[in-house]
Amino acid sequence: MAQQSILVAPSLLAADFSKLADEVAAIERAGADWLHLDIMDGHFVPNISFGPSITKALRPHTKMPFDVHLMIAPADPYLAAFADAGADHILIHPESGPHPHRSLQAIQGLGKKAGLVLNPGTPLAHAAPVLDLLDIILVMSVNPGFGGQKFLHSQLARIAELRRMIDAQDRPIRLEVDGGVDPHTAPLCIGAGADTFVAGTAVFAAPDYAEAIADIRGGAHA
Ligand code: DX5
Ligand code: ZN
Repeated sequence: MAQQSILVAPSLLAADFSKLADEVAAIERAGADWLHLDIMDGHFVPNISFGPSITKALRPHTKMPFDVHLMIAPADPYLAAFADAGADHILIHPESGPHPHRSLQAIQGLGKKAGLVLNPGTPLAHAAPVLDLLDIILVMSVNPGFGGQKFLHSQLARIAELRRMIDAQDRPIRLEVDGGVDPHTAPLCIGAGADTFVAGTAVFAAPDYAEAIADIRGGAHA
């Protein structure tokens, strides 16, 4: 299957939390495709971020799809709240509950796109039995919980393996990468078959958001 267009999803985690609506508007103007929202509970990951209320408060401020990455356990009791808050995609980790297949069915049942997130130490085999339910596979190229970590090159071979799994399907699944993505690491991921990029620090710490997004999408300039 031909590679899909490259999408960039800036992660709100790296934005200035004192002016979230302005930050969201700024990245939309700068050409971002999706807004990535990292939901952390201080239990599944060792950090706390924000929940459905902030997600809902931001919804009227942008047309960008909301790519909601749930780093919470359990996730099932909160799926409807995030759907109501305006999530377009809801992504779960298989470790967040005993029945990931049921969780993905529940996300579909809420009318949202479903995603599975694979930590650096999670076997890719978790994706195989649920491929028919997935719109997105998100490969963590850092251990989840914090922005600003170093990209794990060990994930490139896993991205390539997932690309082969996806291409053996008869429908597209977005292959997204999250963690340490910047204009230098994104081209490596594109080479391995990824088509969608979460970027926190590389966008929000850059002096020019539009240039940062374009550089991730297009690869580093020489
Ligand atoms: C980490 C989050 C990421 C994080 C990425 O747990 O899932 O989305 O915001 O941040 P950077 O791009 O700075 O590595
Ligand atoms: Zn994330």
